[in-house]
Amino acid sequence: MGKYVPPTVLTNEDLEKRIDTSDEWIRSRTGIEERRIADNETNTSDMAYEAAKEALESANIRPDQLGLILVATVTPDYTFPSVSTMIQERLGAKNAAAMDVSAACAGFIYGVVTAKQFVESGAYEYVLVVGVEKLSKIVDWEDRNTAVLFGDGAGATVVGKVSEGRGILSFELGADGSGGKHLCHKEFIEMNGREVFKFAVRQMGESALSVAEKAGLSKDDVDYLVPHQANIRIMEASRERLGLPVEKMSKSVHKYGNTSAASIPISLTDDLAEGRVKDDDVVVLVGFGGGLTWGALCIKWGK
Ligand code: UT7
Repeated sequence: MGKYVPPTVLTNEDLEKRIDTSDEWIRSRTGIEERRIADNETNTSDMAYEAAKEALESANIRPDQLGLILVATVTPDYTFPSVSTMIQERLGAKNAAAMDVSAACAGFIYGVVTAKQFVESGAYEYVLVVGVEKLSKIVDWEDRNTAVLFGDGAGATVVGKVSEGRGILSFELGADGSGGKHLCHKEFIEMNGREVFKFAVRQMGESALSVAEKAGLSKDDVDYLVPHQANIRIMEASRERLGLPVEKMSKSVHKYGNTSAASIPISLTDDLAEGRVKDDDVVVLVGFGGGLTWGALCIKWGK
């Protein structure tokens, strides 16, 4: 795993000066204290490249060993060329095919599940999956309903074969296009917060339980939960559905806000670096997003 977050911090106090909001409202309704914002010179592909480099180094894989690069993003530099082709060139991953995945905040899960199919079939030995967003460029900074929620960043992983008994035990992907209107990007991000909230609480809990069951496990077998870092109240609801104690849930929403497709890999990278996830832990990753889309993975951690 690897991650990149831009150095510039935007705090709730900074937002109080720009729009009609308060630190107290943002903290109590979302759990967010600050978020990172990329500068004008840093685009989505730059953040994706940094996270990808770190993931390759930590996996000890050379770029030319990659068979495929999948970049989950809804904020690409351009419609085309894709972010995945841009980083293919910068990494020197000359043997890799490349495509972007558009599933909003569930994009990283969609990417990893896609990567798993190619690795399992034997088509590719290693697949790089990056979740990356520069949401600051599509946020309406005058709209307090959305401006307080989002941040920029990237997280990445290398998917490859692992030893018997470890790896991805089960997955779930889903979509409900009828809810697309509740969270969309026309000129800016538009969101019906309450509808998305209700959907997220239900879906995150159900999907987290469902992947554990599909892996032949009960919720008591789950050691750690990495939910999409959208809102602490939504995350807590999914943790409670699994019956896990507070310290067994990944939490970085207070530092980075909602970074959409990047939130799960950023949070998990920090968990690994800080020793919260260890080899042979059963880890559930679960996300939801615009589309509406959702996805979950149950992983026995370790190479
Ligand atoms: O990756 C997926 C992205 N989306 C999400 O995860 C969003 C899911 N939804 C949520 O997280 C929550 O619905 C929000 C955090 C967006 C809002 O929390 P809520 O508890 O659902 O609040 P609400 O929408 O019911 O709004 C309560 C009040 C409203 O005022 P009135 O109508 O009661 O007078 C809003 O206008 O809070 C007001 N409000 C704010 N006040 C201060 C909305 N945004 C703000 C703000 N600061 N930033």
